Amino acid sequence: MDLLKELQENGYVLIKEAGLHDPNDTLETAVATFAQPISYLGLPLVMDLKPKPGFQPASYAGTGVFDLHTDLSWFEKPPKYIAMFCVQPESAGGGRPLLADGWKALADLSPEDVDYLKTQPVTFPAPDHIDYPPLTDPIVTDRGEGPFIRFRYDLLDEPPAPVQNFFAAINDNIIYVDVAPGTMFIFDNDRMLHGRTELKGGMNSDRHFKRLYGDA
Ligand SMILES: [Fe+2]
Repeated sequence: MDLLKELQENGYVLIKEAGLHDPNDTLETAVATFAQPISYLGLPLVMDLKPKPGFQPASYAGTGVFDLHTDLSWFEKPPKYIAMFCVQPESAGGGRPLLADGWKALADLSPEDVDYLKTQPVTFPAPDHIDYPPLTDPIVTDRGEGPFIRFRYDLLDEPPAPVQNFFAAINDNIIYVDVAPGTMFIFDNDRMLHGRTELKGGMNSDRHFKRLYGDA
């Protein structure tokens, strides 16, 4: 499978049976075939995503619903690729991973709304658990390879109508990612939005995913 070609065509790629024997190595090896595995802000290269006390509900270690977003929206240069590995989906059936194609959502909007998203700067704050200044930029930036999207709806203060419409269009384009233990999926963080449903087991949830960023 040509991962980069799939990513460029569909925005994401799903590898149902990547194997469970060494998830960190599986993630790193897969990403290294088309990108540079990279860590941000001194965090581990492969992050374990499971509930931890003290995190806001919509965060990698929280247990709430996590609205569809791009990662590191508040960072000058967010990671181009995100690879996720499912060690254990939540037995209780929550915490389902979601994707949505931001390009399809944009195509569902009026030209006026798209123009707003491309021209009006929005301030994206870092989440509570990260000490980093906010970034102000339009949500959509045109590039030769297709629009670059920054989006983190739940941290915006009183989003105006075009931004609300974009969020609604994103939610009309949800893909439920079909994961099992040993499934890996990789997506383009400049194009695809990702999120999850609420964890049903709270802090005692057995949900365990891993994440690795890749730089183009
Ligand atoms: Fe995320």
